[in-house]
Amino acid sequence: MVKGRSLLRWAGILLVCVSVSFICIEAQGEKEAVKAPESGRPDLIKIDTMAAFGGLELPPVTFFHDKHTDVLLKEKKSCETCHAVKDQRLSLEFKGTKAAKPAEIKDVYHASCIGCHNERAAVGKPTGPPDGFCRACHNAKPTAAARREIGLNKVLHFRHVDSKQIPATPAEKDNCGTCHHEYDKQTKKIFYAKDKEGTCRYCHLDQPKKDVKSLEQAAHLQCVACHLDLANKGVKDAGPYICAGCHGAEGLAKVAKKNQGVVDKLPNQEVPRLKRGQPDAA
Ligand code: HEC
Ligand code: HEC
Ligand code: HEC
Ligand code: HEC
Ligand code: HEC
Ligand code: HEC
Ligand code: HEC
Repeated sequence: MVKGRSLLRWAGILLVCVSVSFICIEAQGEKEAVKAPESGRPDLIKIDTMAAFGGLELPPVTFFHDKHTDVLLKEKKSCETCHAVKDQRLSLEFKGTKAAKPAEIKDVYHASCIGCHNERAAVGKPTGPPDGFCRACHNAKPTAAARREIGLNKVLHFRHVDSKQIPATPAEKDNCGTCHHEYDKQTKKIFYAKDKEGTCRYCHLDQPKKDVKSLEQAAHLQCVACHLDLANKGVKDAGPYICAGCHGAEGLAKVAKKNQGVVDKLPNQEVPRLKRGQPDAA
């Protein structure tokens, strides 16, 4: 009885947390929509790591991620051309830039970015700005990024729970622990706690906190890493790994269409409720 009540209380708190976060997300979405016109690109990354070590001499660098992967993937050059992969996990930083000393960051970027552009120019392949074209990278008036929010809505969440590509663990008979975890402050380790699954936003906030990754980092490390790993294993349609697939209007429209197709095939067109140990009737 006591346990039931405290569970209820927790459910209440969780509900409030979730609704508050949804309201905030909605509000953010609106702000973004005003700031970023749809004509922009979902793959724009502003590189300004050096701003943390004092003022920049030149404007931050504009990097169009999908323009690069579109060309390079066609040439069978993998993500590893620019990112390290450890234990089948993609590191989110470019080459070794995070490990570089502040004084070396500029040189690491220049050597890798301009180096590749030069190499490709020499053999007549499509390429980017070489040395000397400073303002093509240090662009003072970049296109605005236009990024749509992506989360796992009910249908998309169900598609993941239901996917044979994300196997259930024998002990739990479900795959929830592949994505969900709690944190043990004493051992400083994450662990899976059955029936405590909830939104990631509870711990992974907009900005990184001490040692806790931001939602952006946590999502990219988990979502993109898995999709990429499956694609590398030859699985077709295992979720997007390029920016536009998750953040572009066209990509999301495709996903919405597939979601609808999945819902149409379900009994009563209803997504099954998550069984989290709650009683079927109160
Ligand atoms: C291919 C793209 C590219 C080109 C071309 C390029 N840079 Fe950079 N540059 C970068 C990147 C990426 C960084 C790292 C930015 C950061 O981390 O803040 C950088 C950093 C810098 C920095 C340190 C950050 C700052 O603003 O104080 C300076 C100075 C700089 N570049 C000057 C130049 C000059 C001068 C040229 C032209 C001769 C040039 N760059 C050409 C990509 C480029
Ligand atoms: C031409 C180089 C290049 C290639 C190839 C490349 N990336 Fe990146 N990626 C970058 C750069 C530059 C950044 C910005 C981070 C930085 O400067 O440290 C980045 C950042 C990212 C981020 C983080 C985005 C964010 O804003 O948080 C993800 C996710 C990512 N890349 C995934 C991939 C995947 C998946 C592939 C292969 C399909 C790939 N990248 C291939 C250069 C590349
Ligand atoms: C492995 C090779 C490679 C690396 C590394 C690389 N680029 Fe490029 N870059 C390309 C190619 C290929 C294109 C041409 C893309 C196209 O034609 O759409 C390009 C195009 C560009 C353009 C022009 C985009 C446009 O709007 O036409 C910019 C700016 C640029 N790169 C910046 C960078 C910066 C900054 C970095 C480092 C963070 C970088 N590149 C690293 C291969 C590379
Ligand atoms: C592929 C990864 C993945 C798997 C597998 C997964 N989840 Fe989730 N789940 C998420 C993510 C991500 C969110 C947060 C969605 C958001 O906030 O946008 C979430 C949200 C939730 C929520 C909070 C939202 C809600 O609908 O109440 C619950 C409860 C939940 N998951 C339970 C489960 C259970 C139970 C399982 C196993 C049957 C499971 N999840 C399997 C990734 C996953
Ligand atoms: C109870 C708080 C909490 C919740 C809820 C939570 N995380 Fe975490 N997560 C952490 C902490 C703390 C770490 C360890 C520090 C770090 O790496 O950010 C972590 C680590 C991670 C990591 C990197 C470590 C690894 O090897 O997996 C990823 C990726 C991640 N979380 C994704 C998610 C996703 C996606 C969700 C939602 C489905 C989620 N987290 C829910 C607290 C949480
Ligand atoms: C453990 C592996 C795994 C993780 C983690 C994961 N996915 Fe997926 N994702 C899949 C698989 C497998 C599918 C194909 C599901 C199906 O068959 O319907 C998929 C499908 C998708 C699709 C649908 C693509 C389409 O064409 O309709 C989207 C969008 C997506 N994932 C987004 C996400 C997001 C966002 C996250 C993180 C919050 C995430 N995924 C985490 C494995 C994963
Ligand atoms: C598998 C889906 C997926 C892919 C692919 C993906 N992201 Fe994300 N991204 C997410 C999720 C989930 C979040 C957190 C929820 C949100 O803000 O939409 C996020 C958040 C972000 C954010 C913070 C929110 C914002 O818009 O300011 C940025 C920036 C971002 N992603 C950039 C990128 C870039 C650049 C790429 C390509 C290199 C990329 N993402 C690829 C799923 C993805």
